[in-house]
Amino acid sequence: MSGTQEILNSRRTVYRFRDKQIDPSDLEQAFQAANNAPSHKQTYPWKYYVLGRETREMLLPSVISLSREKEIRKGGEVSESFETRAVSKIMDIPVIIAVTTKLTPEDAFREEEDYAATVCSLHNLVLSLWDKGIGSQWSTGGITRHPSTYKNIGISDSLERIIGFVKIGYPESVPEKKGRNMSEIVKYLP
Ligand SMILES: Cc1cc2nc3c(=O)[nH]c(=O)nc-3n(C[C@H](O)[C@H](O)[C@H](O)COP(=O)(O)O)c2cc1C
Repeated sequence: MSGTQEILNSRRTVYRFRDKQIDPSDLEQAFQAANNAPSHKQTYPWKYYVLGRETREMLLPSVISLSREKEIRKGGEVSESFETRAVSKIMDIPVIIAVTTKLTPEDAFREEEDYAATVCSLHNLVLSLWDKGIGSQWSTGGITRHPSTYKNIGISDSLERIIGFVKIGYPESVPEKKGRNMSEIVKYLP
């Protein structure tokens, strides 16, 4: 991709990925970009946990039961293919990263600023990957908030909060860009 403005404006959330591995050096560069995000008071509140096969397998029982609950909520009947789809959502993605932000329960303002900083960091990662033609989806599905996920990743929910999983891979397709009306979001005041 060429040019920062092009990278910023063309990025879209990618939901389907090709069966092609990500070069570890592209991922490392993205982590470097992520680590250069701003953080007030230099707290560097972000952490990135790259989920390997074994860790993903440990998440599967919760992924399947959450999907079953969702199917029941939607229509009452659980289709035969739901388990295959649920497993695929975790096992067939080239790279999945759990992103966490530092918690500071004794200082709500710090915690909010740290969350903002972690989002900046995460978006640096996303844009660095997009520059290489690699797509991603930020996901805040039930599994990202499930207690078993904290346990399987090996983190404490009193010290860190998972703000989402980032699913990463080469796009099978890129969704259409929706036009957004600039006049609704920008006001030039006198
Ligand atoms: C905080 C946050 C959480 C999100 N969680 C999900 C999610 O759980 N599942 C999903 O499919 N997309 C999720 N997304 C992606 C949004 O749906 C997507 O950014 C939005 O539809 C706009 O599309 P675009 O990213 O292509 O511009 C999330 C985005 C943000 C910022």
